This record gives sequence, structure tokens and C-alpha cells, in this order.
Amino acid sequence: MSTYDFSNKVAIVTGAGSGIGEACALTFARSGAKVVVADYDEEGGRRVADVITGEGGTAVFNSVDVSKAEQVEQMVATTVSTYGGLHVAVNNAGIGGAQAPTGEYPLDSWRQVLGVNLDGVFYGMRYQLPAMLASGGGSIINMASILGSVGFANSPAYVAAKHGVVGLTKSAAIEYSAQGVRINSVGPGFIRTPLLDENLDEATMGAIADMHPIQRLGTSQEVADLVAFLGSDEASFCTGGYYLVDGAYTAQ
Ligand code: NAI
Repeated sequence: MSTYDFSNKVAIVTGAGSGIGEACALTFARSGAKVVVADYDEEGGRRVADVITGEGGTAVFNSVDVSKAEQVEQMVATTVSTYGGLHVAVNNAGIGGAQAPTGEYPLDSWRQVLGVNLDGVFYGMRYQLPAMLASGGGSIINMASILGSVGFANSPAYVAAKHGVVGLTKSAAIEYSAQGVRINSVGPGFIRTPLLDENLDEATMGAIADMHPIQRLGTSQEVADLVAFLGSDEASFCTGGYYLVDGAYTAQ
């Protein structure tokens, strides 16, 4: 659990109604941030916002589909009007999509996965960056994956989108670091969340755990602790990076 100080900081976490995003939202809130819990799943998002306020923290649910630019613009505008600024943004919302070889991959799933996992991150930064500049600077963390740097069979859209997130992050970091906005991506190995539970059976999950030299899946909190560091002032020289939290998966 992070011990960074986010008092007087405003954070948006997309996809915060479940899994990694939920752990990030809780971690920021427990470290003093005012958190916008953004998700298109109203039930999950409201549940997480309620947990935070129930613990005495500050949070509000924002209903957003990150693949829709106008909704993302509205999310950022609502954040600024509610809490007076924006300092940290975690563009985390993502989906797995269909699993099939590239030569058979369903065209609609390609568009859907790119729309959420890549367009969604671009739309996030597109509207968060002006708001952060107006707030005196900040930190953006884009959720990539180990599959932002290595391939994986039968997930062409996901792998392409995550590689795109890593490149988009680097380019934006070059543009904005001198203006006080740090921008990094994070590359988790396989993390036990509903995303995995809904797509993989137990046998596959075990086989995937074995693909990590650490011999287990990661936890959402282990990712959130890295995200919290990157969002904090302690990470003041970290920008333009792609930070792995993967139990040595990509070290092989
Ligand atoms: P999850 O399925 O538990 O949570 C994802 C959340 O994003 C859900 O609450 C969902 O409602 C929301 N979401 C999905 N599409 C959305 C949209 N269009 N607009 C707004 N919200 C939307 O998934 P998990 O595992 O927590 O994944 C979070 C991120 O981490 C994703 O970007 C995923 O690709 C990435 N990741 C996950 C890994 C894993 O093994 N679980 C490994 C590496 C990266």
C-alpha cells in the first residue's frame, strides 16, 4: 500500500470500477487525493466511489465511455468544475476483445479493442493535458501491458493497441515534460482481475502463471503501487518511460 502524499491533488482513474483501476482509485484516495472514479459500468463505479467515501475519502463516480471523445472531454470538464483542477490521470480502461489468429480476427472486435484501448488513451490525454497545464502540471499514467512490448498469439488487436499506448506515451512525454506534465506507461504481466476471470479458464490461468518466472499472477495492488509512485512527486525525473510490473515475464 502506497504511502505517497496526494493531499490537495485531484486524480481521474478510468476503468476504476474493477480490477487494476479500482486498486489505483482506492490507493490514491487512501493517500489523500480527490478521485474521479470513471467507468462505463455504473454499478462497479458507484461501488468503488462509495467504498472511498465510506472510508472518509473524497470521490465521485463519473459515467464515461472512453472510446467516445465527447464523453472524455466531459469527464475532464466535470472533474475540473467539481474539484478545481487536475493533477493525476490514469488512463486504465481496457478490454480484452476476441481471441483468434490474425487471419481470422473479427473486424468488429479489432475496431472495438482499438477504440477503447488506444483511442481511449489518446482521448484521455487530449483533454487531460490542457487541464493539467492549467493546474500547474501533473502526471499521466497510461495502462499498457507486457503486450506493449512483446507479442501474444490470438490477440492481435490487444497487442497492437498496447504497443500503440507505449509509443503514444513516449511522444507525449517529449512534448510536455518541460511544461511540468510527466507521462509514463505501465506494463503489467498477467494480473488476476475480472478481465482474466471472464476470458480464461482455471487451467489456462495456471499455465499463464507458469509463464512468469516468479511463478504466479500479479495482484491489482502490486500494479497500483507502481502507478502511485509514478503519480507522486517522488517520481519527479520519471517521464517518457514504460515501467514493467511483470514478475520477469519479459526478461526471458
Ligand atoms: P477489468 O475488466 O477488471 O476492469 C476494466 C474496467 O474498465 C471495468 O470496470 C470496465 O467497466 C471498464 N471499461 C471497459 N471499457 C470501458 C470503456 N469503453 N469506457 C469506460 N470504462 C471501460 O480489467 P483489468 O484487468 O483491471 O484491466 C485494466 C487495464 O489493465 C486494462 O487496460 C488492461 O488491458 C490492463 N492490463 C490488464 C492485465 C491483466 O492481466 N488483468 C495485464 C496488463 C494490462
